[in-house]
Formats: sequence, C-alpha cells, structure tokens
Amino acid sequence: MVEYRFISGQTPLDEEEKQDLIPSIITRKDLDQFEQENILEARQWIMHKAVIAKHDIFSAGFILELHKRMYGHVWKWAGKYRKSNKNIGVDYYQIPTELHKLLGDVAFWLDNKTYSITDLAIIFHHRLVKIHLFPNGNGSHARLLADVIIAKYGGKRLTWGRSSDMVKSGETRKRYIAAFREADRGDYQAIINFAKL
Ligand SMILES: Nc1ncnc2c1ncn2[C@@H]1O[C@H](COP(=O)(O)OP(=O)(O)OP(=O)(O)O)[C@@H](O)[C@H]1O
Ligand SMILES: [Mg+2]
Repeated sequence: MVEYRFISGQTPLDEEEKQDLIPSIITRKDLDQFEQENILEARQWIMHKAVIAKHDIFSAGFILELHKRMYGHVWKWAGKYRKSNKNIGVDYYQIPTELHKLLGDVAFWLDNKTYSITDLAIIFHHRLVKIHLFPNGNGSHARLLADVIIAKYGGKRLTWGRSSDMVKSGETRKRYIAAFREADRGDYQAIINFAKL
C-alpha cells in the first residue's frame, strides 16, 4: 500500500473525516477537488431555466436537495441536517424550527417587498449560515442559494467580493467574515456591499 501521507504537500485527512467520505480520498487536495467538481455539477443542474422554474426554492425540501446535489458524491451527510452542535449555529434539534421561521420571514419579505431581491438573497444567505443546517458546506450552499434566488426572481448577479475562490483565505475572506459579523449585529450594509461589488 502506498503511504500517501509522505508525498510532499499532501495533508492527509483524519480518521473521523474518512468515515463520512464516499470516495476513498486520501489527501486534502483531492478532497477539495472532488468537492469543487460536485459543487460545479450542482450549479450547472440548478441554473437551467426549466429546473429553476419548477422548484420551490424557499422550501426545506429544496434547500436540502441542493446541499445533497452539491456534496452527495463526496459526503454521507450531504443533504441531511446536522446531528451535533458546533461553535456556530443553533442547537441542532432546533434546526427544522429555525428554518421554518426563516422561510416564514422570507414569505413575508416577498409579499411586502421589504427588500430588493438582491438584498433579500444576501440576508437570506446570512440567516441560513447562522442556523448552520449541515456539518459543513453551509457557506458555499448559502451563497449558491443566494445566486439561485437572483436567477429565479431577478436582480443583479452577485460578485461575492469579485473572487471565485474567496472562501479559502486571504484578504477577500477577511472582508467576508468581517461583513458577516456586522450582519450578526443587525447591520447588513457591509455584507450587501461585499456581495454586490
Ligand atoms: N468566524 C467565522 N469563520 C468562518 N466562517 C464563518 C465565521 N463566521 C461566520 N462564518 C460563516 O460560516 C461559513 C462556514 O461554514 P461551513 O464551513 O459550514 O461552510 P463551507 O461552505 O464549508 O465554508 P466556505 O465558506 O469556506 O465555503 C462561512 O462561509 C461564513 O459564511
Ligand atoms: Mg467548511
């Protein structure tokens, strides 16, 4: 058997992660690649006009399905609510209730035109990440959902800080997290500016 961990620059995954994996991935780099391909497949699926039109995107069923489509080739927990607590997110047993509340708020915002569609998508993304439905992939899932909302309901396409891979590290990531914190305090301006510009 090849000892992959000694190939330079290839961080091995830990045992707990491996248990939840579907393919037998050995390194962090392979995992990133598998995830990115799976996410791209999901994006291509949902961004078809006919597909987007037929789904009720503000439903728990669709929200779970999208996560499953994004991570289902890689993780066993894809599309399933988190079953333990994390340092971010509500207590895991409150996830369905909190999601239900959020979907009620969205219905109200749409009926009353409380926000533009673009702002609604960004605020929805923040609220969803705060609930933290899944063990992982909440950020990418919520950002794709925001893009889906805009594609379906109209609105200016989001840039998410003008970086396709802002999630990993660097200056853009810092700005995103800082803006996210301001949204936690109820001030959405920074995250809206970040996502739009
Ligand atoms: N202090 C923080 N550090 C990291 N993420 C945070 C923080 N505060 C809020 N978040 C949010 O949580 C998300 C990370 O959650 P999770 O790891 O489940 O998602 P992900 O899709 O794997 O992350 P990523 O954003 O890296 O794609 C971030 O995208 C961000 O929206
Ligand atoms: Mg993550």
